[in-house]
Amino acid sequence: MLAIIGGSGLTQLANLDVTRREVVRTPYGEPSGPLTFGRLAGRDLVFIARHGYGHTIPPHRVNYRANIAALRSVGASRVVSVASVGGIRPDLLPGVLVVPHQIIDYTVGRQSTFFDGHDGQVKHIDFTEPYDMALRAALLAAAARAGQPVVDGAVYAATQGPRLETAAEINRMERDGADVVGMTGMPEAVLAREAGLAYAAINVVANHAAGRGESLHSIQMSAIEAMLQEAMTQVRHVLEALCTNGECP
Ligand code: HPA
Repeated sequence: MLAIIGGSGLTQLANLDVTRREVVRTPYGEPSGPLTFGRLAGRDLVFIARHGYGHTIPPHRVNYRANIAALRSVGASRVVSVASVGGIRPDLLPGVLVVPHQIIDYTVGRQSTFFDGHDGQVKHIDFTEPYDMALRAALLAAAARAGQPVVDGAVYAATQGPRLETAAEINRMERDGADVVGMTGMPEAVLAREAGLAYAAINVVANHAAGRGESLHSIQMSAIEAMLQEAMTQVRHVLEALCTNGECP
């Protein structure tokens, strides 16, 4: 079954035919909220709002382990993450959709592994390619079918938040090779990998990153919210297309 983790601007899937909601407990604590089960384009999926259905959980307090563990426990095998980002690369302007292919992790102090040695074992997973290639390809194909332009490939910088970045931090991230910046991509991606779930992301560029374009001197949160409203409609179309033609895993 496909799971969708919705981020800011996507606390529910308007086009989801909801069948039930379930509160799931995990050994890692509470997920961000009850899981929502439903059908999209006739296919079963499960949805969770990363920041809670009332958007009350900041990025550094999301229980990423519980969310991934809960999704796995109900039979999810693939996870599509939807999240907003700031655009660093000049062509990644507000409103653009991106399917990233790489990650740089700048987060600190998050519970970022299921393999913390409590079972007396030391495990290292391969994370060379942090996103699942087949699921990325399915997302790109779905966007093409939906007639929705998306950028194929970007390096996602995961920051701690909840504050936005300084202009100098963005300059450093750009030197590091980052194209977009967001606060939730890690440890979500690595936990999915550890849990054996195929994971890919679709990012909505909500704003120019700090110090760039319209964000030269400050980032206007009101502009971000307006942009997200509009762009998430496009994301919904891509997700619907993912579930059409039997492509929905
Ligand atoms: N920085 C970090 N996270 C974000 C941004 C940003 O500029 N925009 C949306 N999420």
